[in-house]
Order: sequence, then structure tokens, then C-alpha cells
Amino acid sequence: MKIGILGSGNMGSSLGLLWAEQGHEVFFGGRTTEKGRAVAALAEQGTQGGTNDEAARFGDVLLYTIRGINPAEVLTSVEVLSGKIIIDCNNFEIPEGFAYAPIELSLAEKLASQVPNARVVKAFNTMAQEVFELAPSPLKDYQVSVFVCADDAQARQTVMKLAEDIGFTAVDCGELRHSRLVEGLGNFIRFMIIGQLQNPYTTLSIDVLPAASEQRLGGRQP
Ligand SMILES: NC(=O)c1ccc[n+]([C@@H]2O[C@H](COP(=O)([O-])OP(=O)(O)OC[C@H]3O[C@@H](n4cnc5c(N)ncnc54)[C@H](OP(=O)(O)O)[C@@H]3O)[C@@H](O)[C@H]2O)c1
Repeated sequence: MKIGILGSGNMGSSLGLLWAEQGHEVFFGGRTTEKGRAVAALAEQGTQGGTNDEAARFGDVLLYTIRGINPAEVLTSVEVLSGKIIIDCNNFEIPEGFAYAPIELSLAEKLASQVPNARVVKAFNTMAQEVFELAPSPLKDYQVSVFVCADDAQARQTVMKLAEDIGFTAVDCGELRHSRLVEGLGNFIRFMIIGQLQNPYTTLSIDVLPAASEQRLGGRQP
């Protein structure tokens, strides 16, 4: 796939470099051409780097890492985003004492309202950068979930495949409004990483167990 990275910081460079390793064509965008090119130079495979405008033009799939900033402020024109898949990996800023307000509108839904012609997909917000350093192996052995939400089912499938390509286990979470729940998980996991366990390798996996062969506890009652 042709992937454009908007904002080549921790998340942008990590995901972009992993996708490049898997043979995807990646263009790293930055606020300056030099920044984008410097990250592209880290890749052994042929990647490109330049401005965010160039990255947005290049990719069929875009990774948007610029938290809380309307794409209209980042790009010369948002028309370029029409029809493209935009992955939103953002999490809310951590408030004092992890006292998060309830999520009534997710960052992903807000982004979708700012670029209504694009296909916004929530993903990759429930693990720290350190986890990406383990990808794709040995990460694959640990079945780390990437929770994926989007209103466009095809866009959701595309991003699930991109997650699987780099060793994650993709979990279909349905519509974009479910990103409120997934961003809540992002808040929780950062509380665990920073507030409780102080271990950046902490992440989330969802499991589905085999059904019990007998209900010796009486089973669930109506
Ligand atoms: N780091 C993690 O472990 C992690 C894990 C999961 C999710 N996330 C979420 O992912 C998002 C990105 O995190 P990150 O760690 O990658 O942050 P980061 O390293 O600070 O990267 C953010 C990027 O946004 C760009 N940017 C900031 N303000 C901008 C503006 N006004 N115009 C254009 N570009 C701008 C920065 O450009 P410059 O480089 O030019 O400053 C940088 O490339 C956040 O929402 C975070 O919560 C992070």
C-alpha cells in the first residue's frame, strides 16, 4: 500500500518504519522537508520524506499523529484527503492525577467531523512506542490486540490487515463511535503504564475462551 505519515514523531516514525519493512511504500511527512527526510533516511527500504502536504498526497492510507490539531491547520488544503483512509492513533492528554473526563465525543469522531470526505479509522492507541520495537517478532507470539473502529467497513479491514502485517492481532470493533470506548482503554492503559506498573511494555489483549464443557456453577440465570 502507499502510506503517508502525517507527523513523523514517535508513532509516525515507528509505524512507518515497520510498514516499510513489510514492503509498503511509505512517505514520512513533517512540518519541514528536512524532518520528513531525516526519518525516511532511517529506513533501509526505499522510503521518501518531505512535508505533510506531500505525505497526504502520496498515501492511499494516512496515519494522523498530530493530536488535537485540525488537519485544515496542518495541510494547505484538506481536499487531498477525500476518499482516503486516515488512521487516528491519538490519545487524550493525561490530566492531573489521571482524572479523565468521561468521553462524550472521541478524538477520532472529532477528526472525522473535520474531514467528512475521508474514511477515519481508530487504531493503535492502546500500546506504547516501546511495544512497536518488538514488532513483528517476537510481538506476534503475544497476540497484542489492536482495536479497530470505523464506519467504513472496507477501511476497517484495510487497517486490520496493516496491523496484522506488523505482528499485531487486529480486533474488529465496529463503528467509529466505539472509538469512545477504545480511547477509554487508551486512557486506562496509560494509567497502568505510567501510574501503576511503570512499565511501557504493558498493553492489552482481548481473549475469547473455549466454552465450559459443563455448567457446574449452574450457568448464567436470566
Ligand atoms: N508515543 C506513544 O507511545 C503513543 C502510543 C499510542 C498513542 N500515542 C498517541 O499518538 C499521538 C502521537 O504521539 P507521539 O508520541 O508520536 O507524539 P510526538 O512524538 O510528539 O509526535 C507528534 C507529531 O505531531 C507533529 N506536530 C505537532 N504539532 C504540530 C503542528 N501544529 N503542525 C504539524 N505537525 C505537528 C510533530 O511534529 P514535529 O516533529 O515537527 O514537532 C510530531 O511529528 C498522540 O496523540 C499520542 O497520545 C502515542
